Amino acid sequence: MGELYIGIMSGTSIDAADAVLVDFSHNKPELLAHLSLPWPAAIRTKILTLAAGGSEEIEAFGDVDILVARHFAELTAQLLASTPYTADDIRVIGCHGQTIRHRPNATRPFTIQVGDPNTLAEKTGIAVACDFRRRDLAAGGQGAPLVPAFHQAVFAHPQQTVVALNLGGIANISVMHPGKPIRGYDTGPANMLLDAWCLNATGQHYDENGDWAASGEINDSLLKALLAHPYLQRPAPKSTGREEFGLSWLNSTLYGQAALEANSIQATLCELTAISVAEAIKAEAACGQLVLCGGGAFNGYLVSRLQYHLPTWQLCRSSDYGIDPQWVEACAFAWLAKQLIDHQAGSVPTVTGADRACVLGGIYPGKVSLKSLFAKS
Ligand SMILES: Nc1ncnc2c1ncn2[C@@H]1O[C@H](COP(=O)(O)OP(=O)(O)O)[C@@H](O)[C@H]1O
Ligand SMILES: [Mg+2]
Repeated sequence: MGELYIGIMSGTSIDAADAVLVDFSHNKPELLAHLSLPWPAAIRTKILTLAAGGSEEIEAFGDVDILVARHFAELTAQLLASTPYTADDIRVIGCHGQTIRHRPNATRPFTIQVGDPNTLAEKTGIAVACDFRRRDLAAGGQGAPLVPAFHQAVFAHPQQTVVALNLGGIANISVMHPGKPIRGYDTGPANMLLDAWCLNATGQHYDENGDWAASGEINDSLLKALLAHPYLQRPAPKSTGREEFGLSWLNSTLYGQAALEANSIQATLCELTAISVAEAIKAEAACGQLVLCGGGAFNGYLVSRLQYHLPTWQLCRSSDYGIDPQWVEACAFAWLAKQLIDHQAGSVPTVTGADRACVLGGIYPGKVSLKSLFAKS
């Protein structure tokens, strides 16, 4: 068996589930195939309802757990069908699952991802590694972000400071100074809030290239009120999710502001992301390279605002390193699955605040015995 892994990721934007096929047999991970399968509206609504909290939660939880896993299985089948490989060629699927609750600061911290690994393993015949976040929580960490170790493996430079910025539903940074431990955390909201406002005001799921935002005007008073969110003032380590930065927070902040055009609110939300990210980066270093990952890398307006606030930083996309921005997170979960199989740590304590670096996740067998799965190829 070779070193082919599949990575599956769906982030807080809940736009689509992304899958990649990655070959780890060489020095550098090689992305062989990728596929994105949008969430059908009915499943997306169910996930959003569950993520928001409410009645009949346990019934809904059980149902969505299976629905999401079936979607991942379909995604895997379609991904493999686009390649010369079959399930037998794949060592493990590293599956993040879909987060429905993330409470790293609760009295007894917890995080919950759905997408039943048993269903996924049964339907694909491939072993599934999942539940990557909870071990880090158990070790006293935030359980997030988990991509920095992968960012380090792919983007770090021996002489230059590199920051990898993931513009997903939430924005998170990985700061890589030469010769120093990697740092990183969730800086605050990104696409999640942009998408929510865009859908609310225009009926479109996202603002293509940020063109609609660019047609508005940044409002200083609203911006100041948004930037006052306590999460943005809190010191790292920290992580956040839909709970803290949803539409209800935006609506309550809008209340008491002068009436604004909807596109100006969108422009101001972009500015909120750009400033919260830029401030976090400037606190780490005066200059360096900024590698853009995640769907927000395609929001031209947002990227232009980032460059405006970071004039001394050289911006590029992860595609300059061979991985398109859309696939970085899914590749990270393929890589985390490999770390688990190789009994290597996947978390970075300087990022999550955990007591130690841990081997992350659990494994659900596929057709192949676990013994041969763990045997070196
Ligand atoms: N061409 C584009 N123009 C503007 N925004 C885009 C574009 N492509 C993707 N996005 C944004 O990226 C989001 C998806 O990003 P993704 O990295 O998948 O986030 P997550 O990891 O939270 O699922 C979309 O919901 C949208 O906001
Ligand atoms: Mg996504």
